[in-house]
Amino acid sequence: MSGVNEIRSAFLDYFARNGHEPVASGPLVPRNDPTLMFTNAGMVPFKNVFTGLEKRDYSRAVSAQKCVRAGGKHNDLDNVGYTARHHTFFEMLGNFSFGDYFKDRAIELAWNLITKEYGIPAERLLVTVYADDDEAFSLWKKIAGLPEERIIRIATSDNFWAMGDTGPCGPCSEIFYDHGEHIPGGPPGSPDEDGDRFIEIWNLVFMQYEQLADERVDLPRPSIDTGMGLERIAAVLQGVHDNYDIDLFRALISASENVVGTGANGGASSHRIIADHLRSTSFLIADGVLPSNEGRGYVLRRIMRRAMRHAHLLGAQEPLMYRLVPTLVREMGRAYPELARAESLISETLKLEETRFRRTLERGLSLLDEASAGLDSGAEFSGETAFKLYDTYGFPLDLTQDALRARGIGVDTDGFKAAMERQRAEARAAWSGSGEAATDTLWFTLKDRLGATDFLGYDSEALEGVVGALVRDGAEVMELKAGDTGFVVLNQTPFYGESGGQVGDTGTMTADGVRVRVTDTQKRADGLFVHEVTVDEGAVTIGQALELTVDGARRSAIRANHSATHLVHEALREVLGDHVAQKGSLVTPDRLRFDFSHPMPVSVEELRKVEDISNDIVLQNAPVETRLMGVDDAIEQGAMALFGEKYGEEVRVVSMGRATQGAKAGKTYSLELCGGTHVRRTGDIGLVTLVAEGAVAAGVRRIEALTGRAARQYLAEQDMRLRDLAGVLKVAPGDVTERVSGLVEEKRRLERELAETRKKLAMGGTGGGDAGIREVGSVKLLARVVEGLNPKDLKGLADEAKAQLGSGVVVLISKGEENKAAIVVAVTADLTERFSAVDLVRLGSAALGGRGGGGRPDMAQAGGSDASQAEAAIEAIATSLGEG
Ligand code: ALA
Repeated sequence: MSGVNEIRSAFLDYFARNGHEPVASGPLVPRNDPTLMFTNAGMVPFKNVFTGLEKRDYSRAVSAQKCVRAGGKHNDLDNVGYTARHHTFFEMLGNFSFGDYFKDRAIELAWNLITKEYGIPAERLLVTVYADDDEAFSLWKKIAGLPEERIIRIATSDNFWAMGDTGPCGPCSEIFYDHGEHIPGGPPGSPDEDGDRFIEIWNLVFMQYEQLADERVDLPRPSIDTGMGLERIAAVLQGVHDNYDIDLFRALISASENVVGTGANGGASSHRIIADHLRSTSFLIADGVLPSNEGRGYVLRRIMRRAMRHAHLLGAQEPLMYRLVPTLVREMGRAYPELARAESLISETLKLEETRFRRTLERGLSLLDEASAGLDSGAEFSGETAFKLYDTYGFPLDLTQDALRARGIGVDTDGFKAAMERQRAEARAAWSGSGEAATDTLWFTLKDRLGATDFLGYDSEALEGVVGALVRDGAEVMELKAGDTGFVVLNQTPFYGESGGQVGDTGTMTADGVRVRVTDTQKRADGLFVHEVTVDEGAVTIGQALELTVDGARRSAIRANHSATHLVHEALREVLGDHVAQKGSLVTPDRLRFDFSHPMPVSVEELRKVEDISNDIVLQNAPVETRLMGVDDAIEQGAMALFGEKYGEEVRVVSMGRATQGAKAGKTYSLELCGGTHVRRTGDIGLVTLVAEGAVAAGVRRIEALTGRAARQYLAEQDMRLRDLAGVLKVAPGDVTERVSGLVEEKRRLERELAETRKKLAMGGTGGGDAGIREVGSVKLLARVVEGLNPKDLKGLADEAKAQLGSGVVVLISKGEENKAAIVVAVTADLTERFSAVDLVRLGSAALGGRGGGGRPDMAQAGGSDASQAEAAIEAIATSLGEG
């Protein structure tokens, strides 16, 4: 049998031919099991199918599953490189029956594959069964024709497989391969079983039970779960004893040798470590794990740095791991397309980590050499120094242990832990001293105890999480009951915690008989995700596993609005200039708001351009890519960052679209530091519509926009309005502007004409005449009450009236809305010695319910609140003239 790829395909094909559904590998970060750090067996994605919780439309399946055993319970990290068969990453081939066939068919299928398809001679094989499993014993005899001495009963847990402390389990039967007498070791169950001669190649688990927290119950129906390490079976089929001698590893190791230039002679363990760690780190990154100082991200970082120390040991002068990625993709990218898709993310992440770690690696190693110089084999290295290496030089504890291992020196891990605890206590004291509110102190305490929450929401919107803490009324509680409102902290979550302007996710948390509404999610204490909840049904307790589901429609709308914010930001810079800098943003499911520096209002044409450019990128339907970069590199590459914002050393950089014009033509259109959630392709935004522009502060403008369905609805409403308007105007929608302009013009003309007509009427009709003129003593008085005339026009009219009189006094009163009155009194120049217009207008105004009035002796005006007294006002003035 040939290469690893053929062996894998042969397995999948064989079971597919035998009625099994081929199922693609699940992700390395399990979505359905919050207790597992990484997927570590082929059955993990099917856990809920075994227990009956989940139904699928097949009852037999086959898969090649990616597995990682590092960090978590199964941790093989320390052994890798020094043994023939330990890996941090491996592939598990498995066939599964969910209540379909059981022991007999499982044994028959396995035996035929191994002996017929793979052609392994039967005499090289032996099997184990669980001590009291007589049925399996006789089936092996009957089906495989194995002699009894090669069917070994094992009473220990070796032959009772359980996925963990809880979950499906059952007795198992293992198939062993005899690598031959030249290798020391005895068969399973013998005193020499730990030797390397008899190697387990396939484990058939007869799944019958589910282990719960306090009891073991029967599965709904007996099932089958099998697991065969691809690397092991490949070693057997390729006639080698060591997994690292199979074709796949030979290719990776020789790529490593070529890059380092040491040839095949030097540093065999180091090359193996590099090859193994390259696989685990690359696959983890492809599945969304990125290096960090917490949880899964830290396991990844530990693996990466361990490999990097070995590259350094080999004398590599430059970052090396990232140069091996193409070989890995060539070897495994066809079977795992996600690896090929993430190739550049993997390379960049490795290169970044290598470049950064190299800066402290050398200095750390010389400290390590110095501090261990006097130590002999069997001695213990100071835990305090190991902590300093960790804290100052970024040496994970296992890296220090690995470095000292060859000299037989251990590390005082208790001392290490004590130093770590001391540092935490100091940090804690600093928080309590910083005057934070009581609940903030609580969040910090929880963060300290539980660690940062693993946010898995970039890749999934539904997964399981375990409750780590519950808070109600500012204090920790053991339970939240129906009707309660409080906060839930979990070990991992798909809910986005509000940050970077993007609002927190909402959704549900459920379990049997438990229903919880998540109304908001916030980030506290640097990485603790706090879910604000209301319990609708049942009770939530510490340690409970909950099915977490983000409101997907709401999240999609948020994604679209966030990605659109990036496009609008870049388009604004393109249209208005590089002075445009983000001053704030708000991304909600309904709309986006973006504040930016710009000294004047953005014109309608500019807004149109911004919208057009943004929508051109939407139409490109370009993939939106996220990478992890050093903050300095990112900014050097032109990524937009918020001035004054505190970023970690590594940042997520989101890029989208291709620029088609200007200096950036052909390059990435938008490149921004961003921790938010985004659409997969720009086309998912649908449409961008700017709906408002205005000022927020001096030099800061605000734009509001809609995307997708909201944008469509908005535009449809606008269109409806236009159609209604066209209907009212009885023109085609395209002619509305012209029609309305005409109407406005006509209205102005009519108003002018109306004013003229009123004036004329006020002056006694078109013919002039002397209506309203009388003699008071020797003085001619022209007094008129007019309606609907603008008070501003009264003075002009009064002038005209003076001219008409030649000599005399003019009183004009205009009745306005709400019974208001305006009064103007004018006195011809020859009479100002005798009468003051100001005095007269005050008399009139008093009669009109007003007060005061002002002007000159020849022209004065005033107001009043009771126009019905107009005649009385005129009489008051006339009387005064008579007395004067
Ligand atoms: N689940 C079984 C194992 O991991 C097959 O060995």
